[in-house]
This record gives sequence, structure tokens and C-alpha cells, in this order.
Amino acid sequence: MKKLLGQDNFPGSHENSAFRNAVNLAKLAVKRAVIAGDTVVDATCGNGHDTLFLAQLDGIEEILAFDIADRAIENTARLLEENSLSERVTLYQENFKLIPEYIKKPAGAVMFNLGYLPGAGLETATRAEDSSLAIKSVLPLLRVGGVLTAVCYPGHPGGSEEARQVAGVMNSLDQKEFEVVEMKFVNQINNPPVLMVVHKLKGG
Ligand SMILES: C[S@@+](CC[C@H](N)C(=O)[O-])C[C@H]1O[C@@H](n2cnc3c(N)ncnc32)[C@H](O)[C@@H]1O
Repeated sequence: MKKLLGQDNFPGSHENSAFRNAVNLAKLAVKRAVIAGDTVVDATCGNGHDTLFLAQLDGIEEILAFDIADRAIENTARLLEENSLSERVTLYQENFKLIPEYIKKPAGAVMFNLGYLPGAGLETATRAEDSSLAIKSVLPLLRVGGVLTAVCYPGHPGGSEEARQVAGVMNSLDQKEFEVVEMKFVNQINNPPVLMVVHKLKGG
């Protein structure tokens, strides 16, 4: 198949899928935003895939990864270890509502991959109110040019209310200060995930 212009922007794509899924779109937004020396945050490290992605980015100075579940912290630690990247990341077993207490300088990217820990039960799922509060509290800590990504999963119980509340936070942001986009695979069945990306345009 002929290589498409810009195809390098879609690492690992299936040859027939340019975008793959909402999390991959979030990663593309992060890749585009980060610069050398940045602090970046994974708010929900889960099984560690998004943290690993952040740890593999060149030039990032500091990577903080959070999750409330001990199993998530263990799984992420193991994945980083297997990839010899443990020393690149500081892991915190902590509620993401407390992230502002840990960020020392404005962040280039903060990733929220909401929902439940894959392989665990629904009881591990993020909750609408906590997620909205956490996102709201982190936005002032983005550097100009930085992004916050939020992937919501309306397909599981509580997920559509969470997506609605997170969208409420996004919709209330001043367009002079933040650019916000929402993306989803509109022709997929069963309530596909929704990606929201906030890009900070100027200091508040
Ligand atoms: C979809 S998973 C994240 C997937 C992960 N990013 C990965 O790459 O595997 C959502 C995670 O959010 C975590 N979580 C739920 N409530 C949380 C909270 N209040 N603070 C931090 N993490 C939370 C869950 O334990 C779960 O691991």
C-alpha cells in the first residue's frame, strides 16, 4: 500500500485504520504538545500503557503517574521495569483529586484515561464527580501550549453521566484561554469512547 503523507504520525496503525482508538488520538495530541524539559502526568496509570507511552517520549524531564488502586501501581511498576524505564517515572498511589499537590511546575500534558481498570471490576471505575473536580483542579496547572486529555467511556454504568459532567467542565472554559475539542468514532456501535482535549492558549 502506498504510504500516505503524514502516516508517521500514526505509529502502530493498522494499515486500514489511521486513528485506531480514542486513547491513540489522545497520545497524538500529547505528542504534538510536549516539549523538552516538560513535566507530564498520567492521572490514571491503570495497567501502565499510557505511562509507558509518556516515559518513551524524548526530552521529558519529569513524569508523574497516579492511580488509586494498589494493583494499578503494581502493574505500572512492572511494565516500566520490563521496559527499563522505572527511573523515568514517579508513581503515586493517590486520588487524582490531589494531583495539584504534587505538580511543582506547569505541566506540558496531563492524561486522564477514565473508566475502570481493565481486568478488574467496575468498582475500580472513576466517578463522575471526582473526575470533573480533578480535571478542573489540574487545568490551571497546564503550561501555555500544554494539553489535558480526557478519554471517557459512556458504555459502562455511570460512564455516560461521567462523560456528561466532564463535558460540562470543558464547555464552561473560556475560549480565549483554552481551545477544547471533542472526538469520537461516530459510526461505532455501543457508545464508543469520547476524547476531549484541552489546549491552553494563554495564561489565566
Ligand atoms: C481505564 S483505567 C486507566 C488505564 C491506564 N491509563 C492504562 O494505560 O492501562 C482507569 C483507572 O482509573 C483508576 N482510578 C479510579 N478512580 C481514581 C481516582 N479517584 N484517582 C486516581 N485513579 C483512579 C482506576 O483504578 C483505573 O486503574
